[in-house]
Amino acid sequence: MREKILVLGGSFDPPHIGHLALFTAALRRIKPDLALVVPAYQAPLKGEPEAPARERLELARLGLIAPLPKRLKRLVRLDAGEILSRRKVYTCETLRRLRQQHPGAEFHFAVGADSAASFERWKNTRELKAACRWWSAARPGASKGIPKFFAKISGKMPDISSTKLRAMLALGQDARRWLVGSVAKRIDTRKLYGLSLLAELKSSLSPERFAHTLAVAGWAQELAHIWGADQDQARLAGLLHDFGRSIPVPKMPAYARARRLSVPCRDDIARRQPMLLHAYISEDLAKRRGLGSPAVLQAVRRHTLGGTNMTLLDRVLYVADASSPDRSYREAPAIRRLAQEDLDAAFSACLQAKIAHALARGSWIHPLTVSLWNGIAA
Ligand SMILES: [Fe+2]
Ligand SMILES: [Fe+2]
Repeated sequence: MREKILVLGGSFDPPHIGHLALFTAALRRIKPDLALVVPAYQAPLKGEPEAPARERLELARLGLIAPLPKRLKRLVRLDAGEILSRRKVYTCETLRRLRQQHPGAEFHFAVGADSAASFERWKNTRELKAACRWWSAARPGASKGIPKFFAKISGKMPDISSTKLRAMLALGQDARRWLVGSVAKRIDTRKLYGLSLLAELKSSLSPERFAHTLAVAGWAQELAHIWGADQDQARLAGLLHDFGRSIPVPKMPAYARARRLSVPCRDDIARRQPMLLHAYISEDLAKRRGLGSPAVLQAVRRHTLGGTNMTLLDRVLYVADASSPDRSYREAPAIRRLAQEDLDAAFSACLQAKIAHALARGSWIHPLTVSLWNGIAA
């Protein structure tokens, strides 16, 4: 009889009880001679995973192998092939490697519902379809889009995804019910998934500013979801956007000078509205800690004054900051509604409200804001 091998692939960033339920059900249904858990270094269709590869390897062991009953556990091996390659590895490459290592074996491949739904965009799908039998399980939040040739693993799957979990963890929400206990503990002790940033923000910002930061991060992620921007990037930009507010306003000009921050009209700002420097300081603080991609850092830098050719992420953060659920100025509720229907219109409304408030106070308006307005005004 041919050796039967089950492969469970995924980023496992982090592994959760949905992955475990899928894996356990697949082991019971397929009854393989050997099962391999293969964490991806970086899945080709996804952005860079948040937790380091070595951590995800350990989390996969804790979350997907350790909790199995003895009878199933003895069949399972953790395969570090993709992680050790330290590059994007296509599933077809992994399957070729495994088939070489196990000539003549019959392969079964199980993936979560989201990965299954993206299958048609994978590389060499024809080769993949011929090389093994494909399995997935629908979960309540993602039951659509799994290609028909996937065999369904039945059973009740928890309605959770790693994307949702990363958001919960980064926003300080309790995610323990979705995680195997030892995984939750390791995430906590290693301060993975933004927990160290969260702790630093909490200790360095005022309670009101910290609450605002969480509100903006959550709202930015929601808007990113609606408008097709990267949700992880939007949430991180939200978390970082007011980091600079940890520096007292009177000290901001000295900070900007000492760090030689490139700020348009820096001396004017320093003299007339030093608070406006905080966006540039936020970017600098994030950079010094190695946080945020260039796109995230740009959105952070532009969240108060804007800039030319604002990207989708720039606009999402700008609108999220100006219309977060904790904002209580008169126009805020209408802008929040508009942000879900028409992001550009919401962006104009935010800018208009900011200018109107500045005029009402008789304050100086930064030339960047004026030119931004002139660029979109009729
Ligand atoms: Fe701000
Ligand atoms: Fe803010």
